[in-house]
Amino acid sequence: MDLFSEVKDLVQGYEALRNINWNFQESVSDKIHSIHPYPAKFISDIPRAVLQTLPIPKDTIVLDPFCGSGVTLVEAQRAGFESVGVDLNPIACLLSRVKVNKLDKGFLQSAKEVISRCLAHEGVVAVPLIPNLNHWFRGDVQEAITIIIKEIDRLENQNIQDALRFCLSSIIVKVSNQESDTRYAAIEKAYGKSDVFDLFDKAVKKLAKAKKGLNPLAKSSVLNKNSLTLNTNDFGKKVGLVITSPPYPNAYEYWLYHKYRMWWLGYDPIDVKEQEIGARAHYFKKNHQTEHDFIRQMNQLFASLQENMIEGGYAVFVIGRSKIHGRIIENHKIVKEAGENNGFDEVLTTTRVIKASRKSFNLSHARIKEEYIVVLKKRGSNGE
Ligand SMILES: C[S@@+](CC[C@H](N)C(=O)[O-])C[C@H]1O[C@@H](n2cnc3c(N)ncnc32)[C@H](O)[C@@H]1O
Repeated sequence: MDLFSEVKDLVQGYEALRNINWNFQESVSDKIHSIHPYPAKFISDIPRAVLQTLPIPKDTIVLDPFCGSGVTLVEAQRAGFESVGVDLNPIACLLSRVKVNKLDKGFLQSAKEVISRCLAHEGVVAVPLIPNLNHWFRGDVQEAITIIIKEIDRLENQNIQDALRFCLSSIIVKVSNQESDTRYAAIEKAYGKSDVFDLFDKAVKKLAKAKKGLNPLAKSSVLNKNSLTLNTNDFGKKVGLVITSPPYPNAYEYWLYHKYRMWWLGYDPIDVKEQEIGARAHYFKKNHQTEHDFIRQMNQLFASLQENMIEGGYAVFVIGRSKIHGRIIENHKIVKEAGENNGFDEVLTTTRVIKASRKSFNLSHARIKEEYIVVLKKRGSNGE
């Protein structure tokens, strides 16, 4: 592309992006995203608006390197664009896979059989060894969850296993002693063994119904890995567009939010915690992390985006500020500079107001009311 066309392209991209009202106050979320909670998830309008506005060249993919609950992937599929999502958290990957994979025809029948075997189960149940289990789960609830997991594991169809694990994971906090998804206090609850089976059954029906409303028009794959270790072999094709909201310093703890879901489903939350970008735990220990760790991480990410993206491809990052030991960190500037250091130019930075109802739990410590949308574009090989 010559210099004139590149500048024209940049101006057109800028104008189109500037015309979007990023606040999306009337947003209504898709049913599929409300069955299983996920902190700080996108409202569907954000990836949808980006997909409608920016070009996605033929034979390229849409990438979300921090795909979380898979909102970008669902929107890319709906719009007919092939996509890849990456997340370190296995629960995020489970959610994303179930949302983008076609639900097997035998799902409802298998679920029915699983539930009736659970109800008929007799005898001793060997509950897995999980730290502090008795504090967070009643004994009969522990048994019910163990029975459900054993029955799911007996199935041969992986697609159905995934869908049933999604349903079980969606009710774990509800049937535990944890006050709520965002309050980590143990309280007494009235749920017993039969309630666990009943809630599981209800989640199955909700998932089957929500999946009916989706019409996947393109392939989507999900990689469970650390996005700082991405390499060219991870994608079959070049990346044409990135839409993502990265984790940021001292903001959320995705590993903690899903800690017991991970223990129950056989994953190691401590390993996830160690690698999780921005987790608050890294900021409250001796020799704690600082924004310089985030700067290094974003540079690492953009270096691999530079390698895997087409020239002229756009990268859209949605990110808020954070606070580290009293200091406000302007994460959007860190993202922009990391992009510029690694072959990208800023097209636009704008803000959006976060709806009060979406400002979940621990953001209150930083009084965050808005987030930034940073749009970057990969330079051509001649550096223009
Ligand atoms: C803001 S959330 C993304 C939410 C997503 N946009 C959605 O709609 O659900 C950030 C995600 O980054 C993930 N994450 C944190 N550190 C990571 C790492 N090193 N590699 C890959 N993913 C990571 C977290 O597990 C979390 O799901």
